[in-house]
Amino acid sequence: MCGIVGYIGKHKAYDVLVKGLHRLEYRGYDSAGIALLKDDGTLNVYKAKGKVANLEASLSGKDVEGTLGIAHTRWATHGEPNDMNAHPQVSQSRSLAIVHNGTIENYNVLKEALVQHGYTFTSETDTEVLVQLIEYVKQENRCSLFDAVREALLQVVGAYAIAVVEKDNPDTLIVARKSSPLVIGIGQDETFIASDATPIVEYTNQVIYLKDDEIAVISRKAAIQILSLENNLPSQLNIQTLRLSVEQLEKGGYDTFMQKEIFEQPSTLCDCLRGRIVDGGERVVLSGVIENKERFLHAERIIFVACGSSWHAALIGKRAMQEMCQLPVEVEYASEFRYGNPYITDKDIVIAISQSGETADTLAAIQLAKSKGAFVYGVCNVVGASIPRNTDSGTYIHVGPEIGVASTKAFTGQVTVLLMLALCAGEIRGTVRPDTIKEIASALLRMPDMLTEVLKLDPVVSELAKIFTYAHNFLYLGRGYNYPTALEGALKLKEISYIHAEGYPAAEMKHGPIALIDQEMPTVIIAPKDSLHDKIVSNIQQVKSRGGLVIAITNKGDSAIARLANYCLEIPDVPECLTPIVASVPLQLLAYYIAINKGRNVDQPRNLAKSVTVE
Ligand code: G6P
Repeated sequence: MCGIVGYIGKHKAYDVLVKGLHRLEYRGYDSAGIALLKDDGTLNVYKAKGKVANLEASLSGKDVEGTLGIAHTRWATHGEPNDMNAHPQVSQSRSLAIVHNGTIENYNVLKEALVQHGYTFTSETDTEVLVQLIEYVKQENRCSLFDAVREALLQVVGAYAIAVVEKDNPDTLIVARKSSPLVIGIGQDETFIASDATPIVEYTNQVIYLKDDEIAVISRKAAIQILSLENNLPSQLNIQTLRLSVEQLEKGGYDTFMQKEIFEQPSTLCDCLRGRIVDGGERVVLSGVIENKERFLHAERIIFVACGSSWHAALIGKRAMQEMCQLPVEVEYASEFRYGNPYITDKDIVIAISQSGETADTLAAIQLAKSKGAFVYGVCNVVGASIPRNTDSGTYIHVGPEIGVASTKAFTGQVTVLLMLALCAGEIRGTVRPDTIKEIASALLRMPDMLTEVLKLDPVVSELAKIFTYAHNFLYLGRGYNYPTALEGALKLKEISYIHAEGYPAAEMKHGPIALIDQEMPTVIIAPKDSLHDKIVSNIQQVKSRGGLVIAITNKGDSAIARLANYCLEIPDVPECLTPIVASVPLQLLAYYIAINKGRNVDQPRNLAKSVTVE
């Protein structure tokens, strides 16, 4: 939530910053702002409500010179989205400007103290409190900007990634982090900072991921000094090489990122599977599991923690792990787990699933699980993010950057990794038969082709979407492995089209949602030929006999369902545990086309953000 970007070097900062803001817009788009510092000490700060494009439009004809600058795209936490609350926030004397991603929890106490010292505030943000505090400390202690930022941060409780500039200090940029991500890009006589590597990658592939409780002083000649916030001792510069290309961050001929990401799934699944299914499709090898064989062998319980679509993937993982590892498995919303005083032992394996690797609740759940002695395993997409750095081991899903706010290829990648995890751990535990491993592993290898097949439904789904674009409510039903698919299908629709949609276990429908069924409310039923096929046929009958309209996701040639459903979308036959992967693709397309027909911005739906770094 919120994206920050900064530049210091020999080029015009504005161009780098605005391009960077566009790349970070997935993190929030309530407002955007920029502060530019010119060599003569002029500090220009510009802000605009809404998207980065609004900021750009408002700057035509304005002075945007300067080779040092910071910028921000906001997902509002404190104060409504307007120009006053937009970042950068400036100090009372207007000599300091700051951008901030995170929340300052004790801002009220700090604010009251500053008011006593004569400070007045123009915004409702916690960030303004921080910049005023830095100014106050600097004036009181007559110290350097670095010392003032450090001293102020020691008084702060909360989460932050910040970048600060000072009017009379055009050669210095100060950054710091605690629980919110910050990457430093090292160029030739220039340095970039950003919430993630996407604004940096076209200038350099040499980066440093700032750690929690670190502060860095970056000077114009690309000199970077990183120190511990706590004891002021220098940290080693751990320079890493990015494996990210600019092409991965562009739409590549598609209308939207979401559409690109849906259609990329055959190739992203290839990347996800690469090197992990060995011996001609007979075995699954995940290094994170193999290296921790003993942990998986002696585990007594698995607990998944996740949020959003990652939580839905966890529900599928639960079923697979239960079946293949013969272990009790629980799935928790990270936000509930962290405050639920959970009973955890050192025989538990906590698996944290997160596309971004930055979700604040999931990170906090990890810290809690670790403090209670659990072994913590991460399943993430963004390489080098906070969650993979804070877990004991893990597996990347390797589906490339996901930019559309609604998760698509990350979800299918997560499910794929969780099935591989269940097979790999099950083999270690001796709880899954070799022929089962072979059957599922070789079917996994065929999944990219299966998804290519499913994507041929695109024109059919696009037509179907026209019929249902103006429905006000949708019900999604599924059973077994596809109950979570129903939840995910409903979430996709509601987040990008703003149509109310509810996912439900098909048999539970008769305990409530059945009362809603009428001709106005379509029911999407995921009904492959699996072990619960006969049961779901009855559930379809229950909907139909109450006058409901049914869109069924079925296997080819399923005449029992074809006779009942109003519309069928046919998916290829795959082993039961893999059906969520093939079934979720037509649901992604259905949500996509309905949202497009309604004129929604599918990549940046209202009120949402891709990376939720606040509680
Ligand atoms: C946000 C995103 C969702 C995502 C969820 C969890 O709500 O919009 O797409 O599923 O966060 O994010 P994570 O990065 O932890 O998977």
